[in-house]
Amino acid sequence: MPPTLKPAVTFSEKKELEASQLLRLFHQAPWAKDRTLDDAKDMLRHTDVALCAWDGDQLVGFGRVLTDFVYRATIWDVIVDKAYQKQGIGTEIVQRILAHPRLKKVELFWLCTRRPGFYEKLGFSSKEQTGMVWSRSKHSRLE
Ligand SMILES: CC(C)(COP(=O)(O)OP(=O)(O)OC[C@H]1O[C@@H](n2cnc3c(N)ncnc32)[C@H](O)[C@@H]1OP(=O)(O)O)[C@@H](O)C(=O)NCCC(=O)NCCS
Repeated sequence: MPPTLKPAVTFSEKKELEASQLLRLFHQAPWAKDRTLDDAKDMLRHTDVALCAWDGDQLVGFGRVLTDFVYRATIWDVIVDKAYQKQGIGTEIVQRILAHPRLKKVELFWLCTRRPGFYEKLGFSSKEQTGMVWSRSKHSRLE
């Protein structure tokens, strides 16, 4: 028997992916572990650009963009399957977003992260802008 070769990871832009595959990834991240299938489907429907990494037909990485395609774009939910991390997949997803033909006019890309080092290597800076957040869950707790 010849050795089983692991297929190379491939990348595609695909909004019509199975939300259940995405949920499997989300459930690996503390900030997305409570997300539900219906909400993930809604989110995909309203996402402007979605970048996927695949090992065969298994989703192993994801990142998405909300944008006006001219002035501003925000990058959300960049995530790589734990078993596939530290192989350059996350970097490739972000680079493909930044180089995306439909996003080539965008002046400023924005994101929130708990991994600033990862994004600094990709050229993002936290020095020029400050962000503020209004969180529905924190406010409903105060009511
Ligand atoms: C953050 C995240 C998306 C990075 O994905 P990734 O595919 O592991 O990213 P990369 O492999 O491109 O880079 C990660 C690290 O591996 C290193 N690396 C890249 N290729 C490598 C290789 N072939 N061998 C060893 N290390 C490698 C990178 O230099 C980088 O180092 P750093 O940790 O010092 O920044 C991933 O860790 C993740 O999904 N984390 C959980 C979700 C999360 O926190 N997402 C951030 C959203 S804001």
